[in-house]
Amino acid sequence: MRVLVTGAGGQLGHDLLAAFSDDEVVGLGHGELDVAREPAVVAAVRDHAPDLVVHAAAFTKVDACEEETDTAWRVNALGSWWVARACALAGAPMVYVSTDYVFDGRADRPYTEFDATNPQSVYGRTKEAGEQLVRRTLPAHYIVRTSWVQGATGGNFVKTMLRLGRERGRLSVVDDQTGSPTFTFDLAPAIRRLAVTGRFGTYHLTNSGSCTWFRFARAIFDTAGVEVELHPTDTATFGAPAPRPANSVLDNLMARLTGLEPLPPWDASLKRLIAEVDGS
Ligand SMILES: NC(=O)c1ccc[n+]([C@@H]2O[C@H](COP(=O)([O-])OP(=O)(O)OC[C@H]3O[C@@H](n4cnc5c(N)ncnc54)[C@H](OP(=O)(O)O)[C@@H]3O)[C@@H](O)[C@H]2O)c1
Repeated sequence: MRVLVTGAGGQLGHDLLAAFSDDEVVGLGHGELDVAREPAVVAAVRDHAPDLVVHAAAFTKVDACEEETDTAWRVNALGSWWVARACALAGAPMVYVSTDYVFDGRADRPYTEFDATNPQSVYGRTKEAGEQLVRRTLPAHYIVRTSWVQGATGGNFVKTMLRLGRERGRLSVVDDQTGSPTFTFDLAPAIRRLAVTGRFGTYHLTNSGSCTWFRFARAIFDTAGVEVELHPTDTATFGAPAPRPANSVLDNLMARLTGLEPLPPWDASLKRLIAEVDGS
C-alpha cells in the first residue's frame, strides 16, 4: 500500500511514518506541502498516487487560533477540504485526524461518535468544519477524533511539565478538565489498523482511562522521579485565551463495536514515553 502523510513533521506525523513503515510511505512536512494551497495539494496527491492519505497537518496552537482566525480556517477547514478534493480526484481514501474540542465538554459521561458536536473555540470550530467538508466531499473517509496527544517528537504537555517542573520546582495545574492522554506510538498503529478495514466513518481513538491535567502532571512527575510542589487550580483562574471542554473524554464506541483493538491505558504508555524522552 502506498501511503501519503501530511503534517509529517508533527508529533503524530512522525509516528505515522513509523506505523506505516512496512508500506510504501511518503511523509510531507509543512515545508514540503502547505495544505492551505489547493494546487499544491492536488499536485502532491496526483504525483504520489497514494492508496491512502493520512491528513495529520493542522494549526494546533489552540490559543493562537483565537487570534489568527483566518489561518485557523484556512489550514484546518479549507486545508482539509483541499485534501479531500484531491483524494476524490485521485480515487484515494483519506484519514482526517480530528479532536475532542469539537464537543462543548458539558456532558457528564464520555462522548460517543453519535453525540452532537458543539465546539467552543476557534480551533474546535475549524476542526469540526474540516470534518464536515471531508464528509461532504469524500465518502471514503475515516474521521479519527483523538485527545491530549503526546509524542516523542514536538511539543506537548509531558515535555512542558518536565521542563517547567525542573526549572521552577512549584507548579499550578488545572484540575477541572478531564480527558484521555493519547500517545502517538499507540495512536498511529491504531490508525493503520482502522485504515485497512474499509469501514469508513467517524471513530474515537484515545488511550484507555482518563484523568485531569493535574492528575496527569502528578503521574508525570512520579514516573520521572521529579520532585515538584504541585497545586490544583481551575480553568477560570488559569485564564487561557481559548475555552477548553471540561469533559474531553471520548468513548471509543465505534472501535469497540467493530472489534478494533483498544489502545493501552494512558498511564502505562506515559511510562514508555518518559523512558523515551527522559531516559528514566
Ligand atoms: N495535539 C493535541 O493534543 C491534539 C488533540 C486532538 C487532536 N489533534 C489533532 O491531531 C493531529 C496531529 O496533531 P499533532 O499533535 O501531531 O500536532 P503538531 O505536532 O502540531 O503537528 C501538526 C503539523 O502540521 C503542520 N502544519 C501546520 N500548518 C500546516 C500547513 N498549512 N500545511 C502543512 N502542514 C502544516 C505543523 O507544522 P509547523 O509546526 O511548521 O506549523 C506540524 O508539523 C492534528 O490534526 C490535530 O488537530 C491534536
